[in-house]
Amino acid sequence: MSDSVSERRLMAAVLVNKGVLKSPRLRGAVETVPREQFLFPGVFLDDGRTWRPVTAAGTDRDEWLKIVYSVDTLTTQLDGHLTADQAGEPVVGVPTSSSTDPATVVGMIEALDLAAAHRVLEIGTGTGYSTALMCHYLGEDNVTTVEVDARVAARADAALEAIGFSTWTVTGDGLLGHPYRAPYDRVIATCAVRRIPYAWVRQTRPGGIVLGTVGSWPWGTGLVKLAVRDDGTAEGAIVGRSSFMQARAQAVAPVAGDLRARTAHADSKRHALMSPLVLEEWMPAFLAQLAAPGAQFVRATDGDGSPLRYLFDPERESFAEFLADGESWTVRQGGPVALWDDVERSLVAWQDAGAPEIDSVRLRVTPASHRYWIDRAPSLRWEHRIT
Ligand SMILES: C[S@@+](CC[C@H](N)C(=O)[O-])C[C@H]1O[C@@H](n2cnc3c(N)ncnc32)[C@H](O)[C@@H]1O
Repeated sequence: MSDSVSERRLMAAVLVNKGVLKSPRLRGAVETVPREQFLFPGVFLDDGRTWRPVTAAGTDRDEWLKIVYSVDTLTTQLDGHLTADQAGEPVVGVPTSSSTDPATVVGMIEALDLAAAHRVLEIGTGTGYSTALMCHYLGEDNVTTVEVDARVAARADAALEAIGFSTWTVTGDGLLGHPYRAPYDRVIATCAVRRIPYAWVRQTRPGGIVLGTVGSWPWGTGLVKLAVRDDGTAEGAIVGRSSFMQARAQAVAPVAGDLRARTAHADSKRHALMSPLVLEEWMPAFLAQLAAPGAQFVRATDGDGSPLRYLFDPERESFAEFLADGESWTVRQGGPVALWDDVERSLVAWQDAGAPEIDSVRLRVTPASHRYWIDRAPSLRWEHRIT
C-alpha cells in the first residue's frame, strides 16, 4: 500500500493544478487511497477499434503504476462479463464497468459540498475507487454504495476491505436507491440515467443534494445537481457536461438492421430549417433529448455514399430521415410523433436566445414529472410526465 505514495501525491497535485481538487480533506483521500488496489486483475486500454487487456500481474510495476495514475478512465469490464485476465489478446466490446477518470470523480465529490458525518448513497460502485475516496472523507459507516453487477460488487467490496473499509456495498439496481439506509444527505450516481429516479429524491433529506448524469446518448448528456425541498420535490441545474455509461436497466439497444423498412412510410416531407449535423454537437444533442425523449440519433450512408442521418423513437414508432441535398437537407417524418418538428422548434428557439450553454438549463423533479427550462428563453421548457 505504501509503494505508490509518490504517484498518489503527484496525481493529487495534478488535480489541484487542474482546479478540480480543492478541499484539503479530499486531497488527503486522494493521497491515501491506492487506485491500483481497485484495478485488479487489470484494465482494457482503448486501441481505437479494439481493447487491449493489461493485467497487473503481467505488467512491469513502473509501467502498471503509470497506467493506474494516468488520470484517465480505465475500463475494467466489457460486455457485462469480460475482465482483462480472461482476454489473451485485443478484443472488441462495449465497456460495462470502469474506474472513472479521477478528475471527474473528484470533481463530482467536490460538487457534493460534503460536510463531516454526511451520509452518502452512491449508485454505480464500479471498482470502488470513488467509494473509497468518500469512505476516507466521511467514514465507512456513512457511505452506502449500490452496484448492479454482482461480480463487480464483490471485487469492489474485497478491494475496499483490503484497504480497511468495511462499507455497505450492496448488489442491486441503484435506480431503486437503497431505502433501508435512507435518509441520505447526498446521492451521487456514476452511471447515466434517462431521468432521475424519484426514489433518489425520496431517500434524500430535505436540504440534501442529488447529483447525477442525465441523458441517453453517448454525448449530449449533462451533470444535474438538485437540492431536495421540504415538499418532496427537488430543483436545481445542469452544472456542466458529463459522460457516463448508461444505467443497465435503462440502456437502450442501438437502432440497427433494415433502416429502409423502418422509414418506408413517411407522413410528411419538407426542407429542414437546420442541418441534422448540428445534433453531433453537445448542447444541441442535449436539447434534442429534452425535446424528443426516447429518440436516438443514427448515422448511415446511402448506396451512393451520400450521408444519411436519422432520429428514431422505437417506443413511439416514429422516425425522421434526413437526406443530403447539396448543402441543405430534406427531412421525411413518419409515425405519431413528428420528431424533427419538435427538435427543430427547440433548436431554433435556442439559437434565437443566443445559444446558451448547458449550464443555463434548470430542472425540477416531482413524483410525477421532470420539468426542464431555460430562464432567459420562455419558449424553452419541456415537461416529461411519468406515465
Ligand atoms: C463508470 S462505472 C462506476 C465508476 C466507479 N464509481 C469508480 O470510480 O470506479 C459505472 C458502474 O455503474 C454500474 N451500474 C450500471 N447500472 C447500474 C444500476 N442500475 N444500479 C447500480 N449500478 C449500476 C455498472 O455496472 C458500472 O460498474
